[in-house]
Amino acid sequence: MTKTRAIQVARAGGPLELVEREIPNPGPAQVRVRVEANGICHSDVLTKEGLWPGIEYPRVPGHEIAGVVDAVGDGVPSWKPGDRVGIGWHGGHCGYCDSCRRGDFLFCTVRPMVSGISADGGYADHVVAPAVALARIPEGLSAVEAAPLMDAGVTTFMALRHSGARAGDLVAVLGVGGLGHLGVQFASRMGFDTIAIARGSDKEPFVRKLGARLYIDSQAQDPAAALTRLGGARAILATATSGAAMTAVIGGLGIDGRLMVVGAPRDPLTVPAGLLIGGRRSIAGWASGRAIDSEDTMAFAVRTGVRSMNEPFPLERAAEAYERMMSGDARFRVVLTMDK
Ligand SMILES: NC(=O)c1ccc[n+]([C@@H]2O[C@H](COP(=O)([O-])OP(=O)(O)OC[C@H]3O[C@@H](n4cnc5c(N)ncnc54)[C@H](OP(=O)(O)O)[C@@H]3O)[C@@H](O)[C@H]2O)c1
Repeated sequence: MTKTRAIQVARAGGPLELVEREIPNPGPAQVRVRVEANGICHSDVLTKEGLWPGIEYPRVPGHEIAGVVDAVGDGVPSWKPGDRVGIGWHGGHCGYCDSCRRGDFLFCTVRPMVSGISADGGYADHVVAPAVALARIPEGLSAVEAAPLMDAGVTTFMALRHSGARAGDLVAVLGVGGLGHLGVQFASRMGFDTIAIARGSDKEPFVRKLGARLYIDSQAQDPAAALTRLGGARAILATATSGAAMTAVIGGLGIDGRLMVVGAPRDPLTVPAGLLIGGRRSIAGWASGRAIDSEDTMAFAVRTGVRSMNEPFPLERAAEAYERMMSGDARFRVVLTMDK
């Protein structure tokens, strides 16, 4: 068998189309992974719509990859065929710029590589990736369970870890989609007093099951006022795809409270300076994680029972699966599976 299936975007704004390609071979320091599952992240819109600078088309999206190593290039001592691995947003780096030497691979200034954007990603039966980008999947997680943890999981887990909140603090999660439903679970398992904020009332039973103590419907009440009545949040994990929605919760931060921005809306956040100065509030961004962070995320998930709630779709229905994610109707992560 020399052919493999992939879902490609031929041009910015073009459709997701199923194609047959030659099975790619790993070069030096690379491995080839037989993909078993790939989570569909809202950030795939960057590849689909050409919103990231310099994308070369055709391009195969996908940066929530779980599978099995099936070929290893030269100079890869640490991986062998049969190893179960995941690949996330981080798809490689130069290794010698100042950012890389600090371990900040995601901010490599020379050759930043993003899976599914600067190289073909996981909407495919096979993917080639740098060995340094691989995270080992632990026993106890299936490929479908592991895939969403490679970006939605690691992003929310790491952002909460760096939010400044400590066990017992009030932590809100804004937006309950792919990232947010994992954020609610991580926050509650980390020992935070967890509040979920989303639009409408239909998500309330879900978020309570996921571990939130309270639910705030941002259409029925002012979420900042509601958080203030609860004492103010030490951190808000903002996963929503709306800058206006993020702006609307900033006033609900308590003293020294921090808005951790992980959602990437196209509209801006607008903040009166007095709101930041008054309560020493701050706004910080967080980007995904490295392979070792994904391993921490998966280990925590296995220990505490955090799991992505997934809607599996076969690879050939990727276009429908992507639309399902974009519609906001998915409960909560759409995951492509490659079994034929
Ligand atoms: N920082 C990072 O490293 C990183 C990593 C992965 C993803 N992201 C970004 O994170 C965002 C979320 O990704 P995802 O995969 O979780 O997307 P998703 O599954 O589509 O979820 C987005 C959620 O945002 C909610 N939302 C939109 N407008 C809202 C509003 N006005 N008020 C409250 N909630 C609102 C939606 O709620 P409804 O269901 O009510 O529409 C939906 O649940 C995207 O912008 C993505 O690009 C960033």
